[in-house]
Amino acid sequence: MRETQCPSESWCDSFTMADQVPSIELGNGGNMPYIGLGTFKTKDCEMRESLRVALECGYRHVDTATFYQNEDAIGEVLQEWLASGKVTREEVFITTKLPRIGNRAGDVARFLQKSLEKLRVSYVDLYLFHHPVGAIGKDDDDLSPVDSEGNSINDPDTDLESVWKAIEEQVDAGRARNIGLSNFNIVQIERILKVCRIRPANLQVEVHAYHQQRDLRALCHKHGISVCAFGPLGAPYMADGAGERPVLLEHPKVVSIANRLARTPAQVLLRFLIQLGMAVIPKSSNPDRIRQNFQVFDFELSTEDMSSLEDLDCGKEGKIFTMEFSKSHPECPF
Ligand SMILES: NC(=O)c1ccc[n+]([C@@H]2O[C@H](COP(=O)([O-])OP(=O)(O)OC[C@H]3O[C@@H](n4cnc5c(N)ncnc54)[C@H](OP(=O)(O)O)[C@@H]3O)[C@@H](O)[C@H]2O)c1
Repeated sequence: MRETQCPSESWCDSFTMADQVPSIELGNGGNMPYIGLGTFKTKDCEMRESLRVALECGYRHVDTATFYQNEDAIGEVLQEWLASGKVTREEVFITTKLPRIGNRAGDVARFLQKSLEKLRVSYVDLYLFHHPVGAIGKDDDDLSPVDSEGNSINDPDTDLESVWKAIEEQVDAGRARNIGLSNFNIVQIERILKVCRIRPANLQVEVHAYHQQRDLRALCHKHGISVCAFGPLGAPYMADGAGERPVLLEHPKVVSIANRLARTPAQVLLRFLIQLGMAVIPKSSNPDRIRQNFQVFDFELSTEDMSSLEDLDCGKEGKIFTMEFSKSHPECPF
């Protein structure tokens, strides 16, 4: 891989070159590569090829979840790469997540064990509490339980603190190197910080130029919790959620910066978040885009370009993932 530039001194503080992909220190000796392959809505058939392409071009971080139902395909490719010696287990950072139907202390170990079996590894690098709103499935495969009217069958008794304690036990058991939260708000994170024995190493939340989550990121920074941005390209497949705004990848400011720097709009959006200090996990099933999205360590956005992109923030209005299923639940984070 090419030599990387450090865009700013503050950014350099948290920047290491573990295994050649720039990475964020997680505070316990572990490192999370700044860029990972997102896999939401990547079906098995395309998952294998996407991951092979990603590993070939240098990705060493993959983000999945029980909910995505592609852990098996990811496990197949991981096994192929590990067995051939092209990578060692230590060189690949694997994140997976507890499904909403597993948001009970007694369910955590079982769901993580199932993930490990599918991924064909003995531990994950990061296990995330996927969502604070629990659901009640009829069995472990009923990942999006809905009633006859199509409404999510939520579990009103979700107890975040007790689930977190069960997640901590996964570190003790050697099944997870790091643990973290996803889709939690400030108050919920503070509640976990009050009771935790092992602090969350990471928060995975929706962050992109339209929804920059400044308060949430400041809280994480204060407590030494790294942030990973999901939907970093503005999830164009959910473009309807953007209302009157242009799809982020087509925003004139983004396109103009990209043209001036001879980069793609996606590279500009990813580089923007990385320069703000976050990891990014863009999803693509297109080999050319998977390769392009990784080329974000050999250029730098100027202070002017950064502030121009910072001006795109629409606060709460910029949120694309509305997660309607969570609206009536006492732990709805939004
Ligand atoms: N924790 C959570 O609750 C949560 C929620 C959502 C997502 N996530 C994670 O975050 C990852 C990323 O989020 P996301 O997939 O929702 O959205 P995203 O990465 O912002 O956008 C992915 C979309 O952008 C397209 N795309 C990718 N690269 C592109 C490029 N260079 N130019 C133009 N289009 C491009 C992809 O299409 P092609 O495949 O055709 O390239 C795909 O439709 C997910 O895959 C998942 O791993 C986590």
